[in-house]
Amino acid sequence: MHFQWYPGHMTKAKRMMQENMKLIDLVIELVDARIPQSSRNPDVDELGKNKARLILLNKADLAGEKWNDAWAEYFREKGYLAVKVDSRKNKGMKPVNSVIQEACKEKLERDRKRGILNRPVRAMVVGIPNVGKSTFINSLAGKACAKTGNKPGVTKGKQWIRLNRQVELLDTPGILWPKFEDQRVGLMLAYIGSIKDEILNTEELAAELIGHLGLHYPGVLEEKYQIENDADAYEMLKRIALSRHCLLKGSELDTMKAAALLLDDFRNGRLGRLTLEYP
Ligand code: G4P
Repeated sequence: MHFQWYPGHMTKAKRMMQENMKLIDLVIELVDARIPQSSRNPDVDELGKNKARLILLNKADLAGEKWNDAWAEYFREKGYLAVKVDSRKNKGMKPVNSVIQEACKEKLERDRKRGILNRPVRAMVVGIPNVGKSTFINSLAGKACAKTGNKPGVTKGKQWIRLNRQVELLDTPGILWPKFEDQRVGLMLAYIGSIKDEILNTEELAAELIGHLGLHYPGVLEEKYQIENDADAYEMLKRIALSRHCLLKGSELDTMKAAALLLDDFRNGRLGRLTLEYP
């Protein structure tokens, strides 16, 4: 399998983020709770050095609860603040708010020592495409209204959302591109749908997923599709096609359709809450 990217977009997005980084104190980095490692871009550590750092395990509703907690713990041990969240259903926002406050406390304290009072802490959301940045911003901002930044030090045209007396959030998230020198990372991103299916072979991808699930979640496919799991991945795909009546003309099995169906079921949580990477 081959993955391609578009360096032009990457360079532009990165430059814009570097500019915005200068304006903020707190980096709120979203990762996908199902693949917290592969959905990060390690550049964020360099870009956000000297900033307060918060990692949010978004789409926590699609990942195993036990693993969500294990990953949050893992990131905390690495020195980040970390919280799991379901932005779509607005779940977990309270802990997010308190952790933002916690991150701000240090900053406000530092300001106070330097004689700076009442300067709000500014935050920016960053993450790879489709990780839920816009959904999260809407969820967090709620009814808070955006206001134009017309203060000194704020680039004209930037919108800041005032979350409370102490915190302002940049309304446009920073986009990081996923990094996959490693095929495994590319595969993980493809499973969750972060890489467009058109540039991948859907059946091959589904077969890989079947292999992964068979290893880490035995029983899941059997139960969902009422099939036996005692064959190779491609045969399993045929069984899914049969069980779900994915047929071509002449009653030939439509494994392409079965592959798309399996990926869709996985991506939408219909196979259950499945974490694909483990700390
Ligand atoms: P982005 O800005 O980082 O690119 O991501 P965006 O907010 O557009 O979200 C991408 C998709 O992920 C959206 O689904 C969104 O609803 C979904 N999503 C965001 N946060 C969560 C979450 O915590 N849990 C779950 N289950 N899904 C989440 P979509 O299919 O593209 O759109 P829609 O059908 O939801 O409108």
